[in-house]
Amino acid sequence: MSLQNLDLTNKTAIVTGGSRSIGAACAKLLAARGATVAITYSNSAERAEQLIAEIKADGGKACAVQADISDIAAAKAGTEQAVKLLGGQLDILVNNAGVAEHGAIGELSDESFNRQVKINIEGVWHTTATAISHLNNGGRIINIGSFFSERVPFPGASVYGMTKHAVAGMTKGWARDLASKSITVNIVQPGPINTDANPEDSERAEKIKSVVPLGRYGQPSEVAELVAFLASPAAAYISGAQILIDGAMLA
Ligand SMILES: NC(=O)c1ccc[n+]([C@@H]2O[C@H](COP(=O)([O-])OP(=O)(O)OC[C@H]3O[C@@H](n4cnc5c(N)ncnc54)[C@H](OP(=O)(O)O)[C@@H]3O)[C@@H](O)[C@H]2O)c1
Repeated sequence: MSLQNLDLTNKTAIVTGGSRSIGAACAKLLAARGATVAITYSNSAERAEQLIAEIKADGGKACAVQADISDIAAAKAGTEQAVKLLGGQLDILVNNAGVAEHGAIGELSDESFNRQVKINIEGVWHTTATAISHLNNGGRIINIGSFFSERVPFPGASVYGMTKHAVAGMTKGWARDLASKSITVNIVQPGPINTDANPEDSERAEKIKSVVPLGRYGQPSEVAELVAFLASPAAAYISGAQILIDGAMLA
């Protein structure tokens, strides 16, 4: 593969939930490969501004927009605002923002059920539905699912699993719907990744590592490498794919 095929110069990208963790790693790498990146976030204005400053210090181009995607109007307005800041053009959409909350049926609260559905399913749908009219031919949609998009291997995760299965379903449908514009749509399905939401040094993490054949957590930068590849010209024939990055956990 020629390195030129990974280049994202003159491309524009939105990364939802880009202020921290996996989203921030994706934003940094897309910008390093040449894309102009708009990140969205919910609460972490300071973290978002810090990331934008880091990207700019490294010679990249980036901006941040506050948009809580659990609110349909905010998801739509935030996406429009991001596209506007990118000059009205969009090539790459990374639907990363998501939450994982655990509880068995009969125990999980209605609030938690609704929050996960609103952010992980409705937020992804409305962000994409808004972005789509701006997405250029040959564009890329990369959804961040989970190994829970394929299996529910731990107890208490039926709702999170349901939402991530829904993202896999949307991915396949959109891959068909958008193929005529040469837009590819794929879902990246991380296993345990060392983030604010799932730190690799917690007590729970030790148990999780014991069922990962590679014996460790993945790093946000490793997920970002896969996302940047799928965003690149090199990946033009990959669409509708569910791609695990899980240290062989589901093998
Ligand atoms: N970490 C893992 O082990 C793992 C494994 C599989 C899949 N995933 C998936 O990977 C994605 C990122 O996970 P992560 O571990 O990096 O999470 P994280 O550390 O909690 O970071 C979440 C990011 O999403 C943003 N966000 C959360 N709720 C939002 C909302 N309502 N509107 C807009 N932005 C919102 C946060 O913004 P603020 O900073 O403003 O809060 C933050 O930037 C999620 O879809 C998750 O399901 C993670």
